[in-house]
Amino acid sequence: MSFSATWLELREPYDRQARNPAVLDAVVAALAGRSSVTIVDLACGTGSTFRALSPRIKARQSWRLIDNDLSLLARAPESSADAGVETIPMDLNRDLEAAFDDPADLIVTSALLDLVSDEWLQRLVVEAAVRNLPVHAALSYDGRIAFDPVDAGDARIVAAINAHQRTDKGFGAALGPQAGEQAIKRFERINYAVVQGVSDWTFAPQDREIQMEILSGWATAVRETGKLPLPDVLGWLTRRRDFVAAGRSSIRVGHVDFFARPTGTR
Ligand SMILES: C[S@@+](CC[C@H](N)C(=O)[O-])C[C@H]1O[C@@H](n2cnc3c(N)ncnc32)[C@H](O)[C@@H]1O
Repeated sequence: MSFSATWLELREPYDRQARNPAVLDAVVAALAGRSSVTIVDLACGTGSTFRALSPRIKARQSWRLIDNDLSLLARAPESSADAGVETIPMDLNRDLEAAFDDPADLIVTSALLDLVSDEWLQRLVVEAAVRNLPVHAALSYDGRIAFDPVDAGDARIVAAINAHQRTDKGFGAALGPQAGEQAIKRFERINYAVVQGVSDWTFAPQDREIQMEILSGWATAVRETGKLPLPDVLGWLTRRRDFVAAGRSSIRVGHVDFFARPTGTR
């Protein structure tokens, strides 16, 4: 599955606003006192997590930014006085384990876990655990979408979106809305301490561009499921777009962030 740089750029300010502050604080606190840290960002896109996290970390940083999309990696940040950056093209479905070959202090990812399968998640947990590595995963969609004003078609559309979320995105049948909860459960089961919190997108009436974009994306996803008749989907999309155009639409999209840290080892 591919993601356009335009879409990632559009969502980045909303992602940044949504990132859970308590979870970010826990990540930063875990690195406090170190003179240097090495951070691996899995499925980095253009480097949104680097831009959100890097300014908060006091230590000298080395980042390894990994993605399979060369055009996104080409837009990733370059090394600066505060942080060295290496971009690494890698198919994380095939080669996840290779991402752990070199020493690191922290694994981060954002907007990835809802795309992966439970089997892939377990591979991630195992690779982190055998090296006692902490993991910060931000912005996993959790299945909640709230529209204001409400439309009679919303509930069926959201159910179909969530069904689409569970289809294969290149890592096997995706965890979709279960991803955050399942990841937290898997880390807690191996005695990681987990700090978690919501990181919902909140789109206000003036956020027209992202609302239009996300509504189109959802309508396309729903059509792909074949769960609803096309005229129902198009009617819903038209009514929702009219609310947006009229400056009357607000949307909240549920996400979860967490920081999982091995206990007693660091
Ligand atoms: C929703 S985007 C999130 C990007 C970035 N983390 C962010 O928050 O802006 C998902 C990312 O996963 C990457 N991706 C998808 N499948 C992948 C794979 N098999 N191997 C590596 N990266 C992959 C995409 O290229 C994309 O950058």
